[in-house]
Amino acid sequence: MEFKNIKFEVSENICTITMNRPKALNALNRSTLEELDQALDLIEKDNRVSLLVLTGEGKSFVAGADIVEMMDKTPGEAASFSKFGADVFRRIEKLEMPVIVAVNGFALGGGCELAMCCDIRIASDNAKFGQPETGLGITPGFSGTQRLSRLVGIGRAKELIFSSRIIDASEAEKTGLVNRVVSKEELMDTVYQLAKEILSKAQIAVRYSKEAINRGYETDMNTAMGIEKNLFSLCFAT
Ligand code: CAA
Repeated sequence: MEFKNIKFEVSENICTITMNRPKALNALNRSTLEELDQALDLIEKDNRVSLLVLTGEGKSFVAGADIVEMMDKTPGEAASFSKFGADVFRRIEKLEMPVIVAVNGFALGGGCELAMCCDIRIASDNAKFGQPETGLGITPGFSGTQRLSRLVGIGRAKELIFSSRIIDASEAEKTGLVNRVVSKEELMDTVYQLAKEILSKAQIAVRYSKEAINRGYETDMNTAMGIEKNLFSLCFAT
């Protein structure tokens, strides 16, 4: 499949998707989201792929939803755009395989939201994070109001979203928004090293762990413990 706005590569069981509209700092227009959605179809069908890495081309990971495209939307069109973006991100979150994001620069608005739906976030020291939507007269639209508060706590999420403040990588690490910060030069090596470490483990156990954590996080403790017990016991069939 030919892509225009993303790069899609598979090597050693790892699929790497690089957001590739550097002229617009990899901003997410509808067609980029559609390509991401199509890439997920490919990944789900490709038995070679056991882990997904996301990153961005140039100085930005993703500088948000495409403001130029959004500007003249009606409320109905905005609802459809928000639903589509949020659904694509939910697909990434629910992929059976682990997803690592290498945040190589700006992760703003929809870019921060894209990073947040991934399982593990590694950032380069020049990365910048934020939800600047209130400065544009809108709220975050790809589930940022929900995932940011789950990741950094409701008080910090409100501060960041209400103020539109952009934070650097080290503050993002302190607040728990990213797992780790490394130098720009080390970013991809660190990510692929972690990917290989994960791939050296039993993939059924990694996938079931992801499912237990994700499903358990969205439900009550007793149900969550039941989910873990069922997935734990299923491992004994393998
Ligand atoms: N949408 C469309 N185009 C964008 C963009 C975006 N989100 N972000 C950057 N661009 C474009 C710029 O318009 C510019 O294009 P031209 O060269 O054609 O003028 C190009 O990318 C380079 O950008 P800058 O010249 O502005 O680069 P900079 O280094 O001076 O600034 C920046 C970088 C601080 C990230 C700045 O570009 C910026 O503030 N971008 C917007 C960030 C933002 O507000 N994101 C949130 C979007 S709303 C959203 O995401 C809603 C949602 O949840 C669904």
